[in-house]
Amino acid sequence: MKLSLVHVIGAFLLPVVLAQSKRATNSSSFSTTGLLSSGAVALGDWDAAYQKAVGFLGQMTNEQKLSLITGSDVDALNWTALVMKDGTQGPNVYNYETGFSEGSAIVYTWDKNLISTQFSAVAAEFYDKGIQVAQAPTSQTLGRTPWSGRLVEGLSPDSYLNGIAFGLGAKAISDVGVISCGKHFLLNEQETNRQSSGSSTSDVAPYTSNVDDKTLHETYMFPFYDGIKNGMGTVMCAMTKVNGTLSCENENLLQELLKTEIGFPGMVTPDVNGQGTAYGSAQGGLDYGSSSYWSNATAIRNVIGYFYVNLNNGSQPASVSTSAYVDVRGNHSQVVRTTGSVGMVLLKNTNNALPLSKPLSIAIFGAHAGSIMVGPNYPFTVLGSGPVYQGHLAGASGSETTSFSILVTPHYALTTKALADGTMLRWILNDTYTAEAIAPIPTKRDLDTTTYGNDTGSSSSGGGGGDSFSGGTWLTQTYAGYATDASVCLVFINAMSGEGADRTELRNTDQDTMVNTVAANCNNTVVVLNTVGPRILDSWIENENVTAILYGSLLGEQSGNSIIDVLYGDVNPSGRLIHTIAKNESDYNVLRQIQCNPTLRIWVRFIVHNVQLLLRHCHHHQRNRIRMAYPTGILAVGGKTDFWDEIFTVNVTINNTGSLDGNEVAQLYVEFPDEADAPVRSLRGFEKVLIASGASTKVDFALRRRDLSYWDVVAQDWKIATGEYTFSVGASSRDLRANITMTLGS
Ligand SMILES: *[C@@H]1O[C@H](CO)[C@@H](O)[C@H](O)[C@H]1NC(C)=O
Ligand SMILES: *[C@@H]1O[C@H](CO)[C@@H](O)[C@H](O)[C@H]1NC(C)=O
Ligand SMILES: *[C@@H]1O[C@H](CO)[C@@H](O)[C@H](O)[C@H]1NC(C)=O
Ligand SMILES: *[C@@H]1O[C@H](CO)[C@@H](O)[C@H](O)[C@H]1NC(C)=O
Ligand SMILES: *[C@@H]1O[C@H](CO)[C@@H](O)[C@H](O)[C@H]1NC(C)=O
Ligand SMILES: *[C@@H]1O[C@H](CO)[C@@H](O)[C@H](O)[C@H]1NC(C)=O
Ligand SMILES: *[C@@H]1O[C@H](CO)[C@@H](O)[C@H](O)[C@H]1NC(C)=O
Ligand SMILES: *[C@@H]1O[C@H](CO)[C@@H](O)[C@H](O)[C@H]1NC(C)=O
Ligand SMILES: *[C@@H]1O[C@H](CO)[C@@H](O)[C@H](O)[C@H]1NC(C)=O
Ligand SMILES: *[C@@H]1O[C@H](CO)[C@@H](O)[C@H](O)[C@H]1NC(C)=O
Ligand SMILES: *[C@@H]1O[C@H](CO)[C@@H](O)[C@H](O)[C@H]1NC(C)=O
Ligand SMILES: *[C@@H]1O[C@H](CO)[C@@H](O)[C@H](O)[C@H]1NC(C)=O
Repeated sequence: MKLSLVHVIGAFLLPVVLAQSKRATNSSSFSTTGLLSSGAVALGDWDAAYQKAVGFLGQMTNEQKLSLITGSDVDALNWTALVMKDGTQGPNVYNYETGFSEGSAIVYTWDKNLISTQFSAVAAEFYDKGIQVAQAPTSQTLGRTPWSGRLVEGLSPDSYLNGIAFGLGAKAISDVGVISCGKHFLLNEQETNRQSSGSSTSDVAPYTSNVDDKTLHETYMFPFYDGIKNGMGTVMCAMTKVNGTLSCENENLLQELLKTEIGFPGMVTPDVNGQGTAYGSAQGGLDYGSSSYWSNATAIRNVIGYFYVNLNNGSQPASVSTSAYVDVRGNHSQVVRTTGSVGMVLLKNTNNALPLSKPLSIAIFGAHAGSIMVGPNYPFTVLGSGPVYQGHLAGASGSETTSFSILVTPHYALTTKALADGTMLRWILNDTYTAEAIAPIPTKRDLDTTTYGNDTGSSSSGGGGGDSFSGGTWLTQTYAGYATDASVCLVFINAMSGEGADRTELRNTDQDTMVNTVAANCNNTVVVLNTVGPRILDSWIENENVTAILYGSLLGEQSGNSIIDVLYGDVNPSGRLIHTIAKNESDYNVLRQIQCNPTLRIWVRFIVHNVQLLLRHCHHHQRNRIRMAYPTGILAVGGKTDFWDEIFTVNVTINNTGSLDGNEVAQLYVEFPDEADAPVRSLRGFEKVLIASGASTKVDFALRRRDLSYWDVVAQDWKIATGEYTFSVGASSRDLRANITMTLGS
């Protein structure tokens, strides 16, 4: 299948024949379009925007259309080129904006309302800075390898969880009036060799992701269905290759899978260097770039998103420079504080270590607890700057860099808390500290003869009668010395990465040594870890003196406050893992830095337990529509219309048998019949509920056809398998409390 494109030289315009869709379609019930292939997609709520786009372009000459798709202004029509900026954590990088948490951090909350709330707040800052396209959210890098540098911005390696968050993000951003640009399409799974210097022929760089059809659909395309169904107006094609062809020139990827199968009506924009040749990319389905090849459909796709989110209504402020004093923060710091605290995962809590309650003394360890000497400032590339950050890490590097107006560190937040509580605080804000390297330890005699005045002769603390001080604040200046004397030892560690380079390690020797040294001397050691992706904890997770572990992503400008909200029990730690923490690197069963061949499907196991939850009933209700194996609806934005029909529900009652009120994330897992060739269990629903102690609540899971379908590679369609299904509900994939089965006959 080839597209014929208009090659504009001067004002000469040739007729366009767009691709014919290979799929059977029903065009009797909708009005369209020269948008797609032969006009075969039902535009639904995009229809009005389509009509406006056609009307607008009707006033344009061919040269003006060309200006439009090459990102230039069209002065005669008052069209200003769209301003596009990264990313999920707020506009990259402006003064006087909120430093939001990274994309992955929001998903740790498993809270649909909070995910929407934060994306709305992020989008409001784009809108108020005069930016029209927010290059967010980032579905992928999905997580084929735990070393991937960009996992910090991705929304989880679990395709279902990722898709729900991606869809909520796309909807929240569009509702605010900004065009959501989902990225990266597709299979941009590692940073190593991701980019060549513009060459599309090199075998080495960019690397090629080669993946079979089933994995492609079920693992990688799956979240994009959610994004597009929920109003995503732009998709960014990746700078890497798929099956040996640049993503942005890959006709199968863009024309067939994205624009036809998922019915994407908007604009495909290239990642940096994603466009190889002008003809190749125009032919492949890229809509925006430095090309002289275009079609009417290309031009429509360039403006349809603008009309879809009402950017033409005259309300948006003019765009401003990154340094302008335009304060768009509103009350968003509160949103950041809440998502940060709700998204921390309590991996371990023994001996009632948490919550803290006015401890007498706290010793704080690790560079991650305090301010970096110069900062905060994360470099665009992490090459040479990781694998840990020598200060409090609350944002990633690369295009997801957060611009902090302020940064609340844990040390600062703990100081405010200690002031109120009368707690004594000590700290060593360094991961490799040895006193000898800094200064010799002074003796009392040294001090007597210098500035400290005269010994009173008293033997009480702070003085002492011997040759050197002991007691009081005078401790041996080592981890052991500081750890020995504290009611609680808080050890802060991090793992840094971002765009530009993959991680070099999943653990860190210096930080692990610090944790173990503190724990050897402190039987109440609490570890707080903020990481960009999976972090192996095996060298101390079982240590009995490590009484509590808080684990999460990079939390943004209120990070220190979010962390103390959890440490002191002001916020119930109800975050859940979004990836698997392995015992060893080899357990991930992937090679580091590969000529990417991500054929293995990613099976995520969430391993948190900390709830007292009792499922009392589990009902299900099967609707008639489940009887059709394949969707039969017309092709629409987001795929065939009935792909999204709710066809099955699972209802459960949850009783909080614990003594405290608490949040629970009820998770629904499905075991598919063999025919589907699916993972052991697949996440297919989650709801976060607040339940008072002793009370019960009802949770309903409504499964859509898409949630019960697998990709049939022969039929080239989504199919519901026949055979036995088991639906299990629990607090995690390892803690299932109730199940029911259902058998579908052929
Ligand atoms: C096309 O859609 C219309 C309206 O939904 C329906 O009545 C008709 O049966 C459909 N035709 C086919 C061939 O599916
Ligand atoms: C492009 O659209 C305009 C109307 O906006 C129409 O006049 C023109 O014929 C179209 N060009 C092609 C090649 O279809
Ligand atoms: C462009 O804007 C100017 C100033 O607001 C206005 O006078 C003119 O009519 C506009 N032109 C079009 C084509 O909308
Ligand atoms: C324009 O659209 C934005 C985003 O939907 C909305 O907030 C604003 O109120 C609208 N302005 C007008 C005048 O309708
Ligand atoms: C890549 O090649 C595999 C094997 O031929 C095929 O199943 C898959 O659909 C191709 N993917 C794309 C995006 O072309
Ligand atoms: C940490 O302490 C060591 C000496 O123990 C010193 O060499 C290093 O520079 C310190 N790091 C920072 C970030 O201050
Ligand atoms: C220490 O005591 C000596 C003798 O009594 C006195 O002269 C000196 O001022 C005192 N130093 C301080 C710092 O109080
Ligand atoms: C735990 O800490 C205590 C000091 O409070 C120490 O004596 C003991 O050896 C530690 N245990 C381990 C396993 O490190
Ligand atoms: C921890 O050590 C302190 C003394 O340092 C002791 O009082 C306390 O009982 C110990 N706690 C546990 C759980 O062993
Ligand atoms: C919840 O469980 C507790 C303990 O099993 C029981 O006492 C209580 O009645 C239950 N509450 C409800 C609402 O079922
Ligand atoms: C089960 O959940 C569905 C979907 O939310 C709801 O419509 C239905 O009323 C529920 N059934 C029961 C028995 O609670
Ligand atoms: C379903 O639950 C029962 C009773 O709790 C349990 O014995 C069984 O193993 C579960 N089945 C599956 C497939 O999880």
